[in-house]
Amino acid sequence: GELVQWTGEMTTVNAAIYEEDSKGNSMPRVLGSIPKMQESDALIALGAAEKSYDNGRGEWPLMTIEQRVEKVHAFTKEMIQQREEVVKWMLWEIGKSYDESCMEFDRTIDYIKDTIEEIEKLDAQQSIMETHGGITAQIKRSPLGVVLCMAPYNFPLNEAFCLLIPALLTGNTTIFKPARFGVLLFEPLLKLFQKHFPKGVVNFIYGDGETLATPIMKSGKVDVLALIGNSTSANALQGLHPKQNRLRLVLGLEAKNPAIILPDADLELSVKECVLGSLGFNGQRCTALKIVFVHESLVSKFNAEFVKQVNALKIGMPWEEGVRITPLPEPHKPNYLRELVSDALSKGAEVLNSEGQSDSENLVSPKVLYPVNESMRVFHEEQFGPIVPIVPFKDVQEPLQYISESNYGQQVSLFSSNATSLAPLIDVLVNQVSRVNINSKCQRGPDVFPFVGRKDSAVSTLSVTDALKSFSVRTMVALKESQENNN
Ligand code: G3H
Repeated sequence: GELVQWTGEMTTVNAAIYEEDSKGNSMPRVLGSIPKMQESDALIALGAAEKSYDNGRGEWPLMTIEQRVEKVHAFTKEMIQQREEVVKWMLWEIGKSYDESCMEFDRTIDYIKDTIEEIEKLDAQQSIMETHGGITAQIKRSPLGVVLCMAPYNFPLNEAFCLLIPALLTGNTTIFKPARFGVLLFEPLLKLFQKHFPKGVVNFIYGDGETLATPIMKSGKVDVLALIGNSTSANALQGLHPKQNRLRLVLGLEAKNPAIILPDADLELSVKECVLGSLGFNGQRCTALKIVFVHESLVSKFNAEFVKQVNALKIGMPWEEGVRITPLPEPHKPNYLRELVSDALSKGAEVLNSEGQSDSENLVSPKVLYPVNESMRVFHEEQFGPIVPIVPFKDVQEPLQYISESNYGQQVSLFSSNATSLAPLIDVLVNQVSRVNINSKCQRGPDVFPFVGRKDSAVSTLSVTDALKSFSVRTMVALKESQENNN
């Protein structure tokens, strides 16, 4: 809620796009710089969030839902005007194509509007009194306190707002750390946060996540850790909080979602969905299909069509029309992906689409690996990049075994022309993962549906409706009948 004049050290922000420097070396383009905050700065942000919450006595938590909605609404109205600016930064910082960056922006605005509608419904419900056993009660949803929000780089805007908006609308105050990539895109929005929210309600921190989040968590003054990212960071941060029982977690973590192509699957449909599902935004989606099990009776046809469609994907810069595979923002990623590929090749897999594919710098062409088996790293690790492992199977128990042994439990995609025959399989799967997609890729949206995960994939639920519950607690005001009569 207050823009602080920064006089400390700055960190350079690089683009996901390389260009030649004056000596002819290919280097990431420098986009700008951001404050490199230290522990003490993080504690200042925490202090501001705490002060504005003031144990529930602050201006923001005491506002009515209607008043908070008014603020968020006014903010959003002005945010819409910043669309091109935000999209431009997103495209350069994380290499997301122009069209997909626009989609992320628009989806975020829809998410905010839908969440406003949902909290208005909740507000209306709150005025309904319930009477049981001589007690009349008003059941409410109240804020939890100070929320530390940390967003990932792959949906740097959308997933930030999926945490911030429900946290704010329910009356919490926040400290927000953007992802390592996808930071400058908040620049056009900072003044709007300052203009529309009271001081201390939204506090941005920039710098190394561990340096900044460690003192905040150790203080014990954070009521909710809301993080979309990896479980190593989430577990480490959670462990620092001195009062575990007072900390609520809202976590969206890793996944290794499988597709299972059953013998009677529609080949065309399954290939189309699996290409989209595994290679959308270069496979950098937590919901991406990260392993594809294909019944042996179909596998050669499936592979041929899959390779054909993968080879047709346009590889290039994010501003090019129709581009599908773009540069990867994480500097270590190309090497990591190369390691996964060579490990699989050394253990008997092939890259099915090797012809005509060339990689440069961080522009990594998709690699379709076949046949993949459990001895290979890519069978187990979340590649989060444009590599598609294909595993042939004889019996559906093989992919089911994979899912039951996995540490992850986000989603699965089942492909079959006889959807009604899938009932027994679905019954088993919904006890293992949180969403079973029939004849379609895995995905988070539409955002009104609960977005959740089992095992190590998530804690708590996001979505237009559920996130409002994740960031609040049910409270009630109870009036005993006799008192009511006396009055
Ligand atoms: O990275 C995880 C995102 O929540 C994926 O969202 O399925 O809508 O692409 P999406």
